[in-house]
Amino acid sequence: MKDLKNRDRQVVWHPFTQAKTEKNPLEIVRAKGVILTDTNGKNFLDVNSSWWVNVHGHGNEVIGNAIAEQFSELDHVIFAGVTHPKAVELAEKVIDILPKGFSKVFFSDDGSTSVEVALKMAFQFWFNKNQPRMKILAMEGAYHGDTFGAMSVGQRGYFFEPFEHLLFDVDYLPFPEKGTEMEFLKSAKDKLQSESYAALIVEPLVQGSAGMKMYKASVLEELMSLAREKDVLIIFDEVMTGWGRTGKLFAMEHVSLVPDIVCLSKGLTGGVLPLGLTVATERIFEAFLWDEKSKALLHGHSFTGNALSCSAAVASIGMMKSEHTLQNIKRIEEKFHQFGQILKSNPKVKEVRHLGAILAIEINVGSEGYFSDVRDKMYHFMISNGILMRPLGNVIFLNPPYCISDEELDYTFEMIQEMLKSVID
Ligand SMILES: Cc1ncc(COP(=O)(O)O)c(C=O)c1O
Repeated sequence: MKDLKNRDRQVVWHPFTQAKTEKNPLEIVRAKGVILTDTNGKNFLDVNSSWWVNVHGHGNEVIGNAIAEQFSELDHVIFAGVTHPKAVELAEKVIDILPKGFSKVFFSDDGSTSVEVALKMAFQFWFNKNQPRMKILAMEGAYHGDTFGAMSVGQRGYFFEPFEHLLFDVDYLPFPEKGTEMEFLKSAKDKLQSESYAALIVEPLVQGSAGMKMYKASVLEELMSLAREKDVLIIFDEVMTGWGRTGKLFAMEHVSLVPDIVCLSKGLTGGVLPLGLTVATERIFEAFLWDEKSKALLHGHSFTGNALSCSAAVASIGMMKSEHTLQNIKRIEEKFHQFGQILKSNPKVKEVRHLGAILAIEINVGSEGYFSDVRDKMYHFMISNGILMRPLGNVIFLNPPYCISDEELDYTFEMIQEMLKSVID
């Protein structure tokens, strides 16, 4: 294990990483609860839940046992022309916990593929009805993943620049910043009047990768009503907001209307195994029922419906609904509220954003953006103090596993205060 860094440098290509300039990666060998341990025995608090996926803590025994038990029965089997008990059980459980209206679950591998499937469902819905609609309406600042369809509906910029010429044409709504809601809704109304969109896609209430930018539920609800008036399908990308993050099981529970399609991933399996789900209403599904095979959703992946991932998801959902988890989310929400209040008067803080178990702190600095220097300074300060936190440009944020203790939270808050003092001019 000694020369892991060097071996890594020889053979591994890391995501979102400039290998020429980046420092050596952390060498993590163990994880339990909120704690990650490196080769030297140093511990790090995983306050961003390992890319926002881990909801019950690492090494959760309930999930581990479920996977082991499933492995002894069935590991993986082709999912076209075949079914298996765990996939059906998971689909039943997901339909059961989502708001009323959803009826069919399509399986894929991760957040990006769940979005690809949603987009294909929406375009083919209209195609199958012989009323083709060619465009999607999305929101500025959005991130829906790194595959081509998902990139197309996301915010264009340096991340997607080399591929820009390959992305399909999308119309964007401005982000509904506080105080601009009326203009936003007017712009939405105008756009919806000018074009028959196949679908509207949004990250409901919180745009994660944009820096945990939040907008009002009332605006989302108005936007949904406007889309409904024009029979534009509504896709909620709940890849990040699902599984309790916004204080409710799904962000859609903050509004009274129900979308047509919802994308789920990240915390779905407790963050232990990859899995994506695209859940649709019966109306969507029915548009694919024809005698012609070509009208089916001709999409799938080798690991679609993987039984181990399904078993982890069933176990995770069981814990998600428990009083213990719901109380933990409430506890974190309250702690975040209190800390947010303290930070609001700090002149180094530009804005505090808080919803449920997400707390984002936008730092008052000249250079903003994902590649800003301050981002690296904040990241390394936190690492040197035993906290793994990946800022988004000048925004630091906390979305920890729900089992994080009050002491671990207090330590993290203390280090954030220290960081503001010593790193930010
Ligand atoms: C809202 C949203 N959608 C989609 C994705 C893509 O998910 P994945 O990284 O699992 O492909 C992400 C990832 O951060 C996300 O935040």
